[in-house]
Formats: sequence, structure tokens, C-alpha cells
Amino acid sequence: MARPAKEPRRFRAGSEHLLPYYADGMLTPAQLDVNGYLDCLQACRDKFPDLRIISGVELGEPHWHAQQATDLIAAGRFELVLGSLHGLMVDGQFAEVAQLMQERRPTTVIRDYLLEVARLVANCQIFSVLAHIDYPVRYWRQHVRSGPFDPTQFEDEYRHVLDLLASSDRALEINTRLNPYPAIVRWWREAGGQAITFGSDAHVPNALATGFADAAALAEAEGFRPGRAPEDLWHRVLHR
Ligand SMILES: [Fe+2]
Repeated sequence: MARPAKEPRRFRAGSEHLLPYYADGMLTPAQLDVNGYLDCLQACRDKFPDLRIISGVELGEPHWHAQQATDLIAAGRFELVLGSLHGLMVDGQFAEVAQLMQERRPTTVIRDYLLEVARLVANCQIFSVLAHIDYPVRYWRQHVRSGPFDPTQFEDEYRHVLDLLASSDRALEINTRLNPYPAIVRWWREAGGQAITFGSDAHVPNALATGFADAAALAEAEGFRPGRAPEDLWHRVLHR
């Protein structure tokens, strides 16, 4: 395979398998083999009949790729569709949050990220769960030496996103890659949010469901309760 013309300025450890898909600073992955994915799921269901395995997809920045996202969902028969944001457009080019954190004031990156998430939620209805609203915090710790991340510093921006999400009757994911912030779950309840999902964003099998017990306790403390099946969304109970 031809070497990319221009490699990204910074490449995260563990993502080296994506390197062949970079050219001129842009990641252009191969087309997802939807049928192969669904066939694989079915093979897993056949092999482990006691497990309930649902299909799903996380759409990154789907508001910038409306037609591709629509085509994928139409082809995929996915049971759960997540939407998320991992970067911003800078001079017409996608810039990953990890990279922006090195180049800009981190507080500015967080605010710009949340403003773009608000646009994602407002302009794109194709997903039913907003994933990892705290995504930039993964890089905060690497670039901010002055103290831990405090979500209350960005309360207005978080509440704006959560208000939009709640008014469109969708769910918020509690992502356990980091320890979840109780304030964000509380703001979700106060926004009128009715549903929660849990995601460990594991990427590797032995990290699956990391932190779920603590996340479940957090959700319960804000009045969310599980459904009948383990894979059901948790919903807010009106009378506590
Ligand atoms: Fe993601």
C-alpha cells in the first residue's frame, strides 16, 4: 500500500493500524463491511446462545456526513445508533481534539467542542444516543497541569447541549472510559433527560464494562432505573 503523502502531526499510540488510511492529514477509512459485521454478530450469537448481542454503530460527526450516515443506517439494520464528536473543523480540515489540546488553550477547546456538540444534536436526528460528551477530558490531563478537570467551569455549555438532547427525546451515554462526572448526570436530569445508556468504550475485550457498577450507582442516585432486559436503556422514574 502506498505511503500516505502527509502523516498527521501527532499519532496516538494504539491507533497505528489507521496510518495507511491517512493522506494529506485526512483519515479516509475503507468502507465499512456492513454485511460482514452483521454476519460476524450472527456467528457470535450462534456460538454463545445465552448472550444477548445487539447490533450498533457509533457515528462520528454525522452532521458533517449526512448522506453517508443515512446510507449506512439504511443498509445496516442497527439496533442502537450513537452519535458523537471527536474533533473540530479547522481551516476546512478535520482536527482531532487530542491534537487541538496541544495547539490551543484547553479551556477554549472544551468550549468549542461543546458548541459543536450542540450543533450536532440540533442538526442531526439520525442517532438516538449522544456518546462521550466528556471526550476532550481524556486529553485534558495530558496538557493541563494546573489541576483536575472541573465541569462546572463549563456548566452553561454542558447544559445547553443537554437541554437540546432532552428536548429531542434522546438518551445520554455515561461513558466509563473516564470516571463519570456526577454533575453532568445531575444536569441531564435537571434538563428533563429521560434515558441513559452505559458505554465502556472498551476497544479491547478485557476493558469491557469497566466502571459500570459505579456508573449504575450514579444513574440510580439521579433517579434512573434499569429496564426489564439488561440491554434496555435506563429510564428516569418520575416518583422517587
Ligand atoms: Fe467515539
